[in-house]
Amino acid sequence: MEDRRPCPRLYRQLDEYCRSDVYPFHMPGHKRRMDVGFTAEFPNPYSIDLTEIDGFDNLHHAEGILRESMDWAASVYGAGRTYYLVNGSTCGVLAAICAAVPRGGTILMARNCHKSAYHAASLNELNIRYIYPQIAEEFGLQGGLLPQDIEEMLISADETSDPPAAVFITSPTYDGVVSDVRGIAGVCRRYSVPLIVDEAHGAHFPFGEMFPASALEMGADIVIQSLHKTLPAFTQTALLHVRADSGLIDTGRLEYYLQVFQTSSPSYVLMAGIERCIEYMADKRRGEMQRFAARLADLRGRLRRMERLRLLDRDMIGKAGVYDLDISKLVVSTRYAAGRMSGSELAEILRRSYHLEMEMCGADYVTAITTLMDSREGLARLEAALLEIDGKLSSGPAKADSAVPAPAASASAALPRSQTVLPIYEAQSRPVRAIPFEEAAGCISGEYVYLYPPGTPVVVPGELLTEEIIGLIRLYRERRLPIQGLCDHTAAAIRVLI
Ligand SMILES: Cc1ncc(COP(=O)(O)O)c(C=O)c1O
Repeated sequence: MEDRRPCPRLYRQLDEYCRSDVYPFHMPGHKRRMDVGFTAEFPNPYSIDLTEIDGFDNLHHAEGILRESMDWAASVYGAGRTYYLVNGSTCGVLAAICAAVPRGGTILMARNCHKSAYHAASLNELNIRYIYPQIAEEFGLQGGLLPQDIEEMLISADETSDPPAAVFITSPTYDGVVSDVRGIAGVCRRYSVPLIVDEAHGAHFPFGEMFPASALEMGADIVIQSLHKTLPAFTQTALLHVRADSGLIDTGRLEYYLQVFQTSSPSYVLMAGIERCIEYMADKRRGEMQRFAARLADLRGRLRRMERLRLLDRDMIGKAGVYDLDISKLVVSTRYAAGRMSGSELAEILRRSYHLEMEMCGADYVTAITTLMDSREGLARLEAALLEIDGKLSSGPAKADSAVPAPAASASAALPRSQTVLPIYEAQSRPVRAIPFEEAAGCISGEYVYLYPPGTPVVVPGELLTEEIIGLIRLYRERRLPIQGLCDHTAAAIRVLI
């Protein structure tokens, strides 16, 4: 006991930070506001932190107040079933995939999926066939997925002995890009394959006409939404909806897997927070969301004045598979800054000089999450900062044509075509050794490599490491982007199969 380390005092650091003037353009969507909405009246978390005592039901065997609450939520969303998730969308994705695809089966999956989808495939020993999103070159971003690409994959898979048991896509992406979910759902229905949509970033969609339509409305069989990302809800809270007339989902199997992937002590604070958030949104969808959308439209209008920085806007709709765009995500590209600023540099300037914290940065863009809880003052600070930075960039010496994006800067969007040698689960059980990245071309990866956020892998275990992939990882390192997945946290070495 004598030589124990001093406690770092996380709680104190959090408290100090949260009292500072740093403004959050990141999750959670409640933005820590206690002066608007219901958060001020919400009971102190300690005062309602119960367990499964008499009268309070059990999430894993819901037949009382939790059953009633989830059935009420399903009626709000127009779902057949709605499940409360306290382990984030992560557990919803894991449960949905494991329920929809039998062990050892095949899944058709968008390559730009969150790592939880890959983990589900690995746990249930699935074979993955990938669908690739389009690339929005002018922004260096991933675009949408095309229904015809999915149809082609399903046609060719029909002739194989192991056709996919489910299609899994992410829409919207982290950057707010929405795919043609209605078209994709139509294709899936023609082939009687359930469509699972990771709508983690679109929990606000059902509540405002200015936002894209939710995947549930567009015909997806299962939709997973993180409440905590874009709505006033505690971190970790999420929902899983099953469409009423799906007929392709075994809800018994789904509920079994929800038990597997959720804690056996689900927090009543989180579940009460989920219910209160939905109740608030159902009541306020008209007024609050319309006001929020109007504030965003004004802000976007003024940011169009920027010359060197560029805001991803609705004029992208119809290009690169972008079917619709979530205007609440502010994606600011540095690609037109004539090579004078990277995404991480812009994020750093916003942090250090303006005390504005972004949700994420790519190689050449930053993404800010805005929600109906953002204050006018917060949005005004972001606007002023971006206009000022843009002004400085525009008056600098290297004035390239701002209509032309910097070449070869789309690193964050590039998803090299994978060359699967072994399925993930098999590669993960093989012996490995760590070697420097520079020597890894031609080897089979024993690890994931992804930027987090967004958590979309560049390479997964069992895939061939090519010069292209190694070059991309080198670029990530040079641009100081958040590389994760590797045992070597410095990203100098990678484990490869022996
Ligand atoms: C597209 C997508 N899906 C799923 C998740 C996991 O969500 P959660 O953090 O709620 O578990 C994330 C997390 O960022 C995500 O970006």
